[in-house]
Amino acid sequence: MKIIETIPELRQALAKESGNIGLVPTMGYLHEGHLSLVRMARRENECTVVSIFVNPMQFGANEDLSSYPRDTSRDLKLLEIEEVDYVFIPAVSDMYPTGFSTWVEVERVTERLEGASRPGHFRGVATVVQKLFHIVEPNRAYFGQKDAQQAVVIKKMVLDLNMYIDIVLGATIRESDGLALSSRNSYLNSEERKAASVLYRALTTAKQMWQQGECDAGRLKDEMRSVIQREPLAEINYVSIADSNTLEELSKIDGPALASLAVNIGSTRLIDNFILE
Ligand code: PAJ
Repeated sequence: MKIIETIPELRQALAKESGNIGLVPTMGYLHEGHLSLVRMARRENECTVVSIFVNPMQFGANEDLSSYPRDTSRDLKLLEIEEVDYVFIPAVSDMYPTGFSTWVEVERVTERLEGASRPGHFRGVATVVQKLFHIVEPNRAYFGQKDAQQAVVIKKMVLDLNMYIDIVLGATIRESDGLALSSRNSYLNSEERKAASVLYRALTTAKQMWQQGECDAGRLKDEMRSVIQREPLAEINYVSIADSNTLEELSKIDGPALASLAVNIGSTRLIDNFILE
């Protein structure tokens, strides 16, 4: 496994690779969710690149950039076990030199849900992912369904900008009580950690109602809200049932739908989703 910190060094190393390249972009503090994507990339490509970069441009002014968990030496050990070929760990000053002024703005699908709660977030995500795509020039890139709107945004960017990269999505990896793995789970104290399974419980309730024939999105959302409201440590940010491609809010489910939610558990904001199809 080669650890590379600069863009020219990575370009030079990858120029010597002949087979397909799979890229897994991450912000580090790796868990089984990330590693499941790494394993997919390893299976499907001759060469696997994992990037670790806490991208300042996707954090809002009042968000957790400075406290975002980091443990590069642990990350490198985990990636070594997975037999990754290259780990790319660029410096902020290399990715965003002084005077940096070009942005990728994906419209419409970024307006609601995470985009509404986190202005500028997807501009930062699309810009850094586009940069990583140009630097690595992968054949395939791997993203988690856990961040459903992010996956929609990246797919739209790739389509709109004629980027010949397959976007492969990996299923959400969960703890035994259903909590989706997330680097931010490390912020939770033990009481909050127990409460955090409420996101999964709310989504499961909606899914069961839908499987029993309930197609009225309003009723499903009411039920999700009432599950969350019974949890004293939880505060709803949003609860949504949307078209899984356009992310427009639905009143009735008659095609693939994305049930998603953002909930504050104490001061930690968690997101999760199920696809209803
Ligand atoms: P990060 O939160 O580190 O996540 C990296 C990748 O892992 C994303 O594609 C995310 O959807 C996926 N992932 C996270 N938790 C998962 C889980 N429980 N199961 C499966 N996959 C999971 O998402 C980002 O970083 C950044 O926005 C990034 C794309 C790297 C751009 O900066």
